[in-house]
Amino acid sequence: MKVLVTYASVKGSTAEVAARIGHGVAERGHQVTVLDVREVQSLGGFDAVVMGSAVRSGAWLPEITDFINRFRHELSEKPVWMWLSCIRVLEQHGEEHVRDHYVNSDLMKNLNLKELAVLAGRLSLDEVDWNERWTLAARYDGHTWPSGFDGDFRDWKTIDLWGASIAAALSEPVA
Ligand SMILES: Cc1cc2nc3c(=O)[nH]c(=O)nc-3n(C[C@H](O)[C@H](O)[C@H](O)COP(=O)(O)O)c2cc1C
Repeated sequence: MKVLVTYASVKGSTAEVAARIGHGVAERGHQVTVLDVREVQSLGGFDAVVMGSAVRSGAWLPEITDFINRFRHELSEKPVWMWLSCIRVLEQHGEEHVRDHYVNSDLMKNLNLKELAVLAGRLSLDEVDWNERWTLAARYDGHTWPSGFDGDFRDWKTIDLWGASIAAALSEPVA
C-alpha cells in the first residue's frame, strides 16, 4: 500500500514521531512518504493517510485543520489514522480530556477514521521563547503547572507499536 504520513509540528518533535511511524510502516512492506501537512499537494497517489498534530493552547494546530479541510473528500474515502502529540495526556484523566477537548469532532465526523491515538510529546522549555512561555502559562488547560512537563515524554515503544498496528491493518485483505 502507498501510505502518506503527514504532520503539523512547531518545534519538530511531532515531525520526528511521523518519521518513526513512517519507518515502522515501511519496514513492514508498505511504500511510505513522510511530509509536512503544508507540503501535501494531493492525496491522489496514496491508499491510506496517517496524520498527526502537536497541540497548543488547548487545540491541535491550525495547519492540520487546513489539511483536513483541503482533503475532506479524499479523507472520507481512504482509511485515516490520526495522532495528537501533547503534554496534557500526562496528567490524571489526561487522555480523556484530550479526546473530549482537543479533537474537533465536527471536522472528524466525515473522515474514514480508523483510530485516534493520544501520544505524549516533548516540551523543552529552553527552546520556548518568552512569548510562547506566556501562551503556555496562560492557555495550557491542565491542572499541573506546564513547566512541570519540561522534557521529552515521547514513548517510542508505544509509537512503534502503533505504527506496527497500522501496517498490519493495511496488510489485511479487504473484505
Ligand atoms: C506554547 C505552547 C503551548 C502548548 N499548549 C499545550 C496545550 O494546551 N496542551 C497540551 O497538552 N500541550 C501543549 N503544549 C505541548 C506541546 O503540544 C508538546 O510539547 C508537543 O509535543 C510539541 O510538538 P512539536 O515539537 O511538534 O511542536 C504546548 C507547547 C507550547 C510550546
